[in-house]
Amino acid sequence: MTLTQPASSAPERVATRRTVLMCRPSHFTVSYRINPWMHPEAPTDTSLAVRQWETLYAKYLELGFEVQLIDGLPGLPDMVYAANGGFVLDGIAYGAKFQYPERQPEGPAYMDWFGADGFEVREPVSTNEGEGDFLLVGETIYAGTGFRSDAASHDELRRIYGREVVTLTLVDPSFYHLDTAFAVLDSDGGRGSVAYLPKAFDAASLAILQERFPDAILVTDEDAAVLGLNSFSDGRNVIIAARAKDFERQLIERGFTPHGVDLSELLLGGGGVKCCTLELRR
Ligand code: ARG
Repeated sequence: MTLTQPASSAPERVATRRTVLMCRPSHFTVSYRINPWMHPEAPTDTSLAVRQWETLYAKYLELGFEVQLIDGLPGLPDMVYAANGGFVLDGIAYGAKFQYPERQPEGPAYMDWFGADGFEVREPVSTNEGEGDFLLVGETIYAGTGFRSDAASHDELRRIYGREVVTLTLVDPSFYHLDTAFAVLDSDGGRGSVAYLPKAFDAASLAILQERFPDAILVTDEDAAVLGLNSFSDGRNVIIAARAKDFERQLIERGFTPHGVDLSELLLGGGGVKCCTLELRR
């Protein structure tokens, strides 16, 4: 089997057109440290961050996605990580309430955008960092806690959306948002519809993942260390960190079409492809 050919047993993957929200990193820098990836003493290159982000934006357009944009605000360098701006499902936007003061003004900025775009906005009561910690797989919301989002926000999700919410507890500080350790590949929610990094979860959460997704892709430490799991899939095309080579190989084996992008500058803030992407579901 060659690397460019899916295994003959791999299923034919079907893409579903996605609508996403992104924020151009015009004000990106690393001026504080709220996760282990961030080193405010090291220089950052905002124009390089913008150029790299533009390649992700162009890739989404090339794949036929609808991409909406929110204006970044001066003084909010992490606003590029749009996944944290909220969680949007069934036309309802559950607003974010950031844990660290440095990011707190982003919550209302994103809520204003959701409201102006016609979403029903729910003000958050509990600390939560949006789709960074909440991922929809099939009909179920998988919700992370341990570092950023409070478990109480998972109850808010249950009340707002009336769906099953499964709590997953993160234990490795380098993988502090669920979307750094868990990737949704296929929205059917089947046995192999996700990829994850086992060491990022506590034993109880790992048991849930093993039971629900016995055919999941498990990524290597090397791929996780370039935030390879921080990826976005339309069911067929999976946009990943270009350096996540073993993940790329495993995706091809399963019949997916990986597309590598280089967001090395945004990795300095502790984010990758998925962090820059918030899915909007009407
Ligand atoms: N510097 C940001 C933070 O620590 C990065 C956020 C990454 N976003 C994500 N969805 N994982 O909050």
